[in-house]
Amino acid sequence: PRVAVVFGGRNSEHQISVLTAGAVLGAIDREKYEVLPIGITADGRWALAADDPARMAIEDRKLPTVEQLSESDTGGVQLPLSPGSREVVHTEPGQMPKALGEIDVVFPVLHGPYGEDGTLQGLLELAGVPYVGSGVLSSAVGMDKEYMKRIFTSFGLPVGPYVTVRPREWETDPAAARKKIVDFASENGWPVFIKPARAGSSVGITKVDDLGGMEEAVETARRHDPKIIVESLLRGREIECGVLEFEDGPRASVPAEIPPVSDHDFYDFDAKYIDSASGIVPAPLTDQETARVQELAVRAFEAASCEGLVRADFFLCEDGEFVINEINTMPGFTPISMYPRMWHESGVSYPELIDRLIQSALN
Ligand code: DAL
Ligand code: MG
Repeated sequence: PRVAVVFGGRNSEHQISVLTAGAVLGAIDREKYEVLPIGITADGRWALAADDPARMAIEDRKLPTVEQLSESDTGGVQLPLSPGSREVVHTEPGQMPKALGEIDVVFPVLHGPYGEDGTLQGLLELAGVPYVGSGVLSSAVGMDKEYMKRIFTSFGLPVGPYVTVRPREWETDPAAARKKIVDFASENGWPVFIKPARAGSSVGITKVDDLGGMEEAVETARRHDPKIIVESLLRGREIECGVLEFEDGPRASVPAEIPPVSDHDFYDFDAKYIDSASGIVPAPLTDQETARVQELAVRAFEAASCEGLVRADFFLCEDGEFVINEINTMPGFTPISMYPRMWHESGVSYPELIDRLIQSALN
């Protein structure tokens, strides 16, 4: 089969996606699959990318971009846009469109808005092209921290205290919007995390210790999303669990633990990628705790109607109870990322994981 690996994208996790795609391109079984690498630039142009995993890595603490990989900076790539055609087309200004052949499946290795949020999935649904991972609704739910929590709550999954402030609330009465946050913090205690409601990789998130830091944190979050979510600091341990869909349904991996990172306020962007803070796999939990978090992870997968894969992130609170923080429908996916590491430890190798995901999209 011919697989279009689509990566990059118009969002703040662009470079993480390129990193992830480099790993996928490096590990995908080339005897079984033909690969067409398609990058989406940071400003949203689709471009044919060099099939060169070595250039899609961190160098001198700098993350890769699609721009540095695209084979031409003019022209663009067009996926099939109507059912019945699987032909990918490349156009250069002033030249005849060039057919790049048909694709059988898309592997959207994209994180964040315009990729992991259901928008790309909608485009592929319209075109009738199969793709790896969750569909439109689950992707959208997995990207929006407010609706994600609302879905979890309605399915009986434990979530932590939060409050959202929507765009219209800022526009109509900013004083009331601010008061909402202050009231939340007074009730639940400082510090709080102020987050863009729809973003990933901890981009735009600030841990705020008191009233003094609030204004700037709100501005930072709102640069990424006009809707923000405010959450309490949950004291406890950070535990993650992978879910993968098998022929007989979703199964949970062994869980992992993210230990607190020194020099970082929390598990932020630099800790995650630049300083490669690393999790412990499997997490040192009791059998009972492991079974509980695995059960909750599969329930979260089902609650959001996910397909293929999900990484569910939890806190194991001091009272011994798990609280679900969020799910990621396209989690970081390099061999050293938590999701593949948890599956490796559970007996599914990295190439096997890629194969399984593509096969389940094709079937
Ligand atoms: N959003 C990043 C890629 C993750 O969840 O791993
Ligand atoms: Mg996330």
